[in-house]
Amino acid sequence: MTDQDISQRIDTLRTLLQRWNYAYHTLDKPDVPDSKYDQVFQELLDLEQQFPQFISSDSPTQRIGSVPLDSFSKIKHQLPMLSLNNGFEEQDVVDFDRRAREKLKKNVIDYAAEPKIDGLAVSIRYEKGLLVQAATRGDGSIGEDITLNVRTIKNIPLRLLEKNIPDILEIRGEIFITKANFLKLNDTQQANQEKLFANPRNAAAGSIRQLDPNITAQRPLEFICYGVGDIQNGQLSDTQIETLEILNKWGIPIAKELALVTGVEGCLQYYTEMLKKRQQLPFEIDGVVYKINHLSDQKTLGFVSRAPRWALAHKLPAQEKVTQLQTIEIQVGRTGALTPVARLTPVQIAGVTVTNATLHNADFIKEKDIKIGDFVTVRRAGDVIPEVVNVVLSMRPVNVKPFEFPNTCPICHSPVVQKSKILQCSGGLNCSAQRKQSIEHFASKRAMNIDGLGEKLVEKLVDTNLIKTVADLYYLKAEQLATLDLMGETSTNNILHAIETSKKTTFSRFLFALGIVGIGETASLALAKHFGHLEKILLCPNLLEETRYIFGIGEERAANIANFFNHEANRQVIQKLLESGISFEEQPTVISNNSNIHGKVFVLTGTLDSMTREQAIVEIEKLGGKVSNSLSKKTNYLIVGNDAGSKVVKAEKLGVPILDESQFLKWLEEPV
Ligand code: IVH
Repeated sequence: MTDQDISQRIDTLRTLLQRWNYAYHTLDKPDVPDSKYDQVFQELLDLEQQFPQFISSDSPTQRIGSVPLDSFSKIKHQLPMLSLNNGFEEQDVVDFDRRAREKLKKNVIDYAAEPKIDGLAVSIRYEKGLLVQAATRGDGSIGEDITLNVRTIKNIPLRLLEKNIPDILEIRGEIFITKANFLKLNDTQQANQEKLFANPRNAAAGSIRQLDPNITAQRPLEFICYGVGDIQNGQLSDTQIETLEILNKWGIPIAKELALVTGVEGCLQYYTEMLKKRQQLPFEIDGVVYKINHLSDQKTLGFVSRAPRWALAHKLPAQEKVTQLQTIEIQVGRTGALTPVARLTPVQIAGVTVTNATLHNADFIKEKDIKIGDFVTVRRAGDVIPEVVNVVLSMRPVNVKPFEFPNTCPICHSPVVQKSKILQCSGGLNCSAQRKQSIEHFASKRAMNIDGLGEKLVEKLVDTNLIKTVADLYYLKAEQLATLDLMGETSTNNILHAIETSKKTTFSRFLFALGIVGIGETASLALAKHFGHLEKILLCPNLLEETRYIFGIGEERAANIANFFNHEANRQVIQKLLESGISFEEQPTVISNNSNIHGKVFVLTGTLDSMTREQAIVEIEKLGGKVSNSLSKKTNYLIVGNDAGSKVVKAEKLGVPILDESQFLKWLEEPV
């Protein structure tokens, strides 16, 4: 590269970063995911380090953020709010620790390790124990006055719990919204026809920067403290961890995951643990932070321009990346719902190659102004299907094409109809896509559990017309299967055997397998218990009336059940299934006198480690208890699993006792 090439590249990077910075910090409308920003920032840092002659005072590496908006009044931070240096690989942690050891002349260093919560930094000032001011980070030296909004955040104390404290104490930390509350907030936004937030960080930013504190007060903001700023007339401790622990005693929330770790090994072990725990944490994190624990060591090391030498943010794999949208295809769901799916230029997100992502529905594409050929932000979080969250307008190529939603089904060409927000194929089981998926669902693990009958084989069976309905599965012959490619004798026998063994099932699994719209495992179980025998359903003169009041069914599902069983074609399939020899175990009706469970109403929240929600319901109901979906004064106990949502707070308000998983398991085992 010539000098001119380098200087040009540096200019390009700076322009990009400035634009993204403005969108992120000033407009609260991030244009690119943090990972993309970090990558470009790092490239610029590296180039400037290698060719220092090109460093200029207006480079984004030479300052902390962007200018704040005018609408809030400005506050000058007594001590600047700095940023953190990022590490991406193990080697970065090794280098960070080595440099610190060399400077401090120590063999081994203790670190305070914490999650790096993906929210917004805030500085909160207490004078004589009273909250007097709160400010955003802004450009690091001047932030915005958000005192009124911060006062609405319930986990921030307005007065500290201790008398003997410094006259002035500034605490610093992160404001965020938990993953569960984010989903609820978006539900509310949607119900009120307001714009949806792209992620929890955006939701938190949008909520804290409301000019009307009444709006902020309705948003589920939370705070976690990770450090101190200005302190006058007083001292807390000489270590990072103890400082936070003292603050915590005064009523300030700190991360439960805060830990003292030793050396690089300790740091890396903490990182691995957090990576494993990431999905279960209530909030989103984009890394972990290591800070040298002894404050005197922090002082010795000091700062370099924008970040302390005594801390490192070790980034976790990004959950959002930018890639190009090559085309949009329409996927037909089991019940005919048409979902637009983005075919993407393959991109690695958190260790997985993503090539497809959901675009939700036609309205989403319109609202977000997504066009074919655009660069889009794609997000993959936990087990959920990857989704497109945004279009990066600043990267839009000139030749993008608008997307037209088709008015006929791409598979069976039946007309598309609209049901509330969702566009649907009107072809029913005449549509091979719907047929394939209903057969796949029927065979799936939690339904009839036909081992080996997956997507590929179902596709072949339907495309070659060997089966039309789920009932045809039970009449398949070895000779027919053998005609399919890749089906040797062993696989043919295995499949036939799996089909045969699936005939022995339970009534509720069978009902679930039928794939009635809205009837999941819980509702199937409720139906099975209510009717006891399939004949009772088939002979029921008015299914709508009979099912609408069943616990856990309700009006909409009752209508779907009635529609399904009143449909002649469905009755024929059921008849054929029964003739093939499908049989049900008796529905267990043992009602014990386990006094903890019998006659009690339980509500479940979060996920349990030892069983699924459905299994827990079965266990409770077996012992004569009931499970309800909504908490009320009538609820006897709330069972709390991992990643529990707002039900816990509600239960506390209502005075409903809370059981954790181990207590619940003990109760289940109580001798009868
Ligand atoms: S310490 C001088 N600790 O990350 C040290 N920051 O890139 C300044 N953040 O603006 C920050 N969790 O918004 C620190 N445990 C943690 C953090 C944390 C999240 C955010 C914070 C800061 C940004 C720095």
